[in-house]
Amino acid sequence: MPMNPTVLLSFSIMGNNHLQTCLRSPMSDVEALKREAGIAACRYVKSGMNIGLGTGSTVKHTIVEIGRRVSQEGLEIIGVPTSESTRELAQSLGIPLMEISDAKSLDLTIDGADEFDSHFSLIKGGGGALTREKIVANISKSMIVVADESKKVDVLGKFNLPVEVSPEKFQSVIEELSTICPGKVILRRKMTDSGGEDRIYVTDNDGYILDCEFGPTITDPAEMEQMISVIDGVVEVGLFVGICDAVFVASHSGVDIMFNPEGRLH
Ligand code: 5RP
Repeated sequence: MPMNPTVLLSFSIMGNNHLQTCLRSPMSDVEALKREAGIAACRYVKSGMNIGLGTGSTVKHTIVEIGRRVSQEGLEIIGVPTSESTRELAQSLGIPLMEISDAKSLDLTIDGADEFDSHFSLIKGGGGALTREKIVANISKSMIVVADESKKVDVLGKFNLPVEVSPEKFQSVIEELSTICPGKVILRRKMTDSGGEDRIYVTDNDGYILDCEFGPTITDPAEMEQMISVIDGVVEVGLFVGICDAVFVASHSGVDIMFNPEGRLH
């Protein structure tokens, strides 16, 4: 895939010591924004790295660009996919891969997010890959999120919080979560491939997903993550706190890089 023309226009020091780099290019729709953010993050990808490859429609563009650099520029990296769909994409592009279980430490993870706030806390799991995504992010020396501007929120929770649960325990987890969550707790379902009757969505780890309608009320994501993660039957919570180092956020005026002042990338 050809890279869009991207021009470095300016650097400016933002509040909270965030260094923002403004990159501008012509963009028309959300897909173009996702592509811009996804490709821009590849500047951190260097030969010799082991890299966590996230899941979703934004990071897909990162993976395609990495694949292009592997085949056309001799980039030498090893990827660790966070889902079977990412594995298939990366394999089709000729990116060498390693299993999560064989990866002790990674140089970098690049992934999407469903929401991020000004403290670099995230909601993830819209694509159902939150458990592997968190494992990979947690063993990485740094994590970059790629997103369009619609993902930026003041308070997390407008996007229903995904929680992966053990199928054997999902009913009791729904009951417990309902005492914490102000809205509904919904067992995720999906349509059959033929568009027929829907059925329960099953993750790559054979888990179920509960989508929790918190609304924009999650003011302390670390506390919320802790409260939910101790419920018997919860496999993983889609809150990522203290993990993200930078967000490449695309808007119609360009791609801004927000650096976490407490993060590991500058
Ligand atoms: C998958 C995720 C995705 O990163 C998240 O849903 C964002 O996806 P997209 O870039 O398609 O909006 O967490 O589990």
